[in-house]
Amino acid sequence: MTPPPVTPTLPADLEAGLKRLKLAAIRHAAPEILLTARTQRWAPEETLRVLVDLEIAARDASNTRNRMTAARFPVTKTLDEFNLEESSIPRASHDYLVTLDWIDRADNLCLVGPAGTGKTHYLIALGHAAVEAGHRVRYFTAAELVEHLWRATADNTVGKTIEQLCRNQLLIIDEIGFAPLDHTGCQLLFQLVAAAYEKRSLAIGSHSPFENWGRFLPDQPTAVSLLDRLCHHAHIITTTGDSYRLTHRTTGGDTTT
Ligand SMILES: Nc1ncnc2c1ncn2[C@@H]1O[C@H](COP(=O)(O)OP(=O)(O)O)[C@@H](O)[C@H]1O
Ligand SMILES: [Mg+2]
Repeated sequence: MTPPPVTPTLPADLEAGLKRLKLAAIRHAAPEILLTARTQRWAPEETLRVLVDLEIAARDASNTRNRMTAARFPVTKTLDEFNLEESSIPRASHDYLVTLDWIDRADNLCLVGPAGTGKTHYLIALGHAAVEAGHRVRYFTAAELVEHLWRATADNTVGKTIEQLCRNQLLIIDEIGFAPLDHTGCQLLFQLVAAAYEKRSLAIGSHSPFENWGRFLPDQPTAVSLLDRLCHHAHIITTTGDSYRLTHRTTGGDTTT
């Protein structure tokens, strides 16, 4: 009768040391790896390398997961799911944008066009890619952003809140213009755009062409200054066409309605 396989374990002091150093991936994998190393006669450096690589990979994956959660994307959308052929985004712009070089340069991206033309999908997909590439990203709708900043006015922490937001390399502000802003909202949005100017990338989505922004930004000089900063060093793309929602709607079995 063959004896049952022995599950390898680490000596208690090593186990405790790895726990104290928070090297969880090494702690979990080491018993098996040390056994393999012994049977396959790995060089000592090779064993150490395998363990270190494991810990690095586990940390990277955990950091990416944390950044993905912190980005607060409302849904998951990826570039793989984005059909460029059916979009009005020019291929040359797309090819550049997916390099994410514009984020390192603190350039902005403005997607302007009617509902259903893929603005939100594309912004989230680029944000998703940026998180995977190691960037810190935060997604807001304009209404959420203004609400977030407005809450900070109560205890006089707007400056600090903006500073915290600008720790992200990419701030996505979607649905600009859906709801009109009051004077304070307009000022708060301007303060953020001004703070990010030439330091951080802003990627915005709006159904409203720039010339109509005065309709929801009531303070005209502020609106002009905001657009001036937003559009300087910006990749501006007008999305056109029919709504993807309507052209790809799920009609089910009954198509008579
Ligand atoms: N080019 C595209 N490829 C794949 N899906 C698309 C594309 N454009 C839009 N969609 C999908 O259509 C729906 C509406 O797009 P969305 O990005 O919300 O539009 P917008 O923000 O411009 O109103 C979403 O489910 C989105 O995933
Ligand atoms: Mg949208």
